[in-house]
Amino acid sequence: MAELGRDVAKARSLLQQGKLVAIPTETVYGLAGNGLNVDAVASIFSTKKRPSFDPLILHTNSLEKVRHFVKEIPAVAEKLAEKFWPGPLTILFKKKSLIPDLVTSGLDTVAVRIPNHPLTLSLLESIDFPVAAPSANPFGYVSPTSPAHVQQQLGQDIPYILDGGNCEVGVESTIVSFEGDQPAVLRMGGLAIEAIEEVLGKIEVQAHSSSTPAAPGMLKSHYAPGKSFVLIDSAEAFTLPENEQFAVLVFDELLPQVPAEKQYKLAPGGDVREAAKQLFGMMRMLDGKDEVEQIIAVKVPDVGLGRAVNDRLKRAAAID
Ligand code: TXA
Ligand code: MG
Repeated sequence: MAELGRDVAKARSLLQQGKLVAIPTETVYGLAGNGLNVDAVASIFSTKKRPSFDPLILHTNSLEKVRHFVKEIPAVAEKLAEKFWPGPLTILFKKKSLIPDLVTSGLDTVAVRIPNHPLTLSLLESIDFPVAAPSANPFGYVSPTSPAHVQQQLGQDIPYILDGGNCEVGVESTIVSFEGDQPAVLRMGGLAIEAIEEVLGKIEVQAHSSSTPAAPGMLKSHYAPGKSFVLIDSAEAFTLPENEQFAVLVFDELLPQVPAEKQYKLAPGGDVREAAKQLFGMMRMLDGKDEVEQIIAVKVPDVGLGRAVNDRLKRAAAID
């Protein structure tokens, strides 16, 4: 089992030795290693059983540090960074050669983010290298939003989990690229598209599903629990399955045609941010229930973080 604690100096020392540490962020827990140390980066890929074509995000604590490892920061990107960092936003930049190719899977762009969590920010402040950190789950499974989630799946493989409690946002960061200065969203996530559009105007969303992704990491089946997982558009689309061993994940209201004890509300108060925060924990909880063989989810309102929630639900169900 990994040791669990709030000792930033210990986490720093492990990272300096090339070891891996799970770190809290506002989105999900990350599996962190020294992003300039090829051996540490390689062990991130092997610990997660992640294919090497799926690049990692570098985490740091200031725009000044970002300048050390990217070629340029376009003015529009800087505007976005200044407004939303630290926060659930990842930006792609042209990388400098000091970033190992393994981090970016050979791409000439590198994904960077300043996460918003006090423990992790003080850790990042105390080191002079960026930290590569994918979500701290085995590849393809639901991302972890609590230290217990990390412990259950990767506890045997890492020495330390920095315990920052439950993640406040609950879905991964929104990824934005500025290829040719045209901003595009490559992954919907914890920063609402509407908030980005307030700064940049209308933005293209390329976050489509695919089983042969052009953008790495946008696999059709991803963020998936182990059980049969079905997504339906609305309460009206629900039909009772033959097998009674099912559970339904609803937004804020129970379906009248289903026994209440089979239903789980993502957001009893009707707030899409609450749904984002609860989503992965609920998926794990239902995945772990012996009496449940199939999970049926109903789409949430497609606004704000609800778009990221629906995106993850679609990937869990592996539909386009
Ligand atoms: O919220 C988050 O972003 C969390 C926390 C730990 O920061 N991290 C996270 O990392 O979700 P990960 O590795 O699970 O997802 C990173 C995604 C992948 O889908 C990857 O393909 C994409 O970012 N990505 C990374 N570098 C890229 C690049 N240069 N071009 C296109 N996509 C990239
Ligand atoms: Mg991930």
